[in-house]
Amino acid sequence: MSSKEIRKITTHQLQEMKKRREKISMLTAYDYSMAKILDEAGIDVVLVGDSASNVMAGNETTLPITLDNMIYHASSVVKAVKRAMVVVDIPFGYYQGNSEEALRSAIRIMKETGGHAVKMEGGVEIHESVRRIVNAGIPVMGHLGLTPQSIYKFGTYSVRAKGEAEARKLVADALLLQESGCFAIVLEKIPARLAAEVTSKLEIPVIGIGAGVEVDGQVLVTHDMLGISTQFQPRFLRRYAELGKLIKLAVENYIKDVKEMNFPNHSESY
Ligand code: KIV
Repeated sequence: MSSKEIRKITTHQLQEMKKRREKISMLTAYDYSMAKILDEAGIDVVLVGDSASNVMAGNETTLPITLDNMIYHASSVVKAVKRAMVVVDIPFGYYQGNSEEALRSAIRIMKETGGHAVKMEGGVEIHESVRRIVNAGIPVMGHLGLTPQSIYKFGTYSVRAKGEAEARKLVADALLLQESGCFAIVLEKIPARLAAEVTSKLEIPVIGIGAGVEVDGQVLVTHDMLGISTQFQPRFLRRYAELGKLIKLAVENYIKDVKEMNFPNHSESY
């Protein structure tokens, strides 16, 4: 299939996937090379997550990453992607103030990166901003449950919405985000039963991370699932490779070859 014939993933297609119960696959990428591999493997959605703050910049939380940083990562990702939908996180501090600020941030992301949609954390607190951004023609993905930008409010990375009051607020928030125009929602680290309830109540796709299997799709942080970053080991994380170990071994072999003058050899020289 030539690149002209590749059928791009759109919000409409994600909606159709939910209707026909085809699960949606989503992974994070922050750079050109990784995004190219994910897209060629057939991933449906590439998320330029603000987890770049942890994974790329080595910060403890997602709070320090800036809008300019996110725009840099997203523009690299967009250049590599031919088929997947590229969703870009609006980072902490660039939408919570008011809906005008939120719209300005979303427009910068769309204009300066070529991304296809933005993602924002929160429910009732952000629904006016969601409405305003969607009215400007920009697709918005919501994010509820354990929302890492609020980590200092939660005080812990443990499972959210275990109690009835928080669970009912989460269901109400999910319905409100749908009504405000979100095309999909991420649910992070909540009980599987609650995620299943939200998924059955919503017409838009629900993508889970630590939210059980009864959702419309799954997302993981690529560097975690490939074993490149190894500090983070929650129960929901399945490791599909141990690339960190593989890379270390390759680098050790390279160092040995350099020290012993085994690299380059005759055929690798001019
Ligand atoms: O920033 C991120 O990587 C995310 C996913 C964990 C959903 O928001």
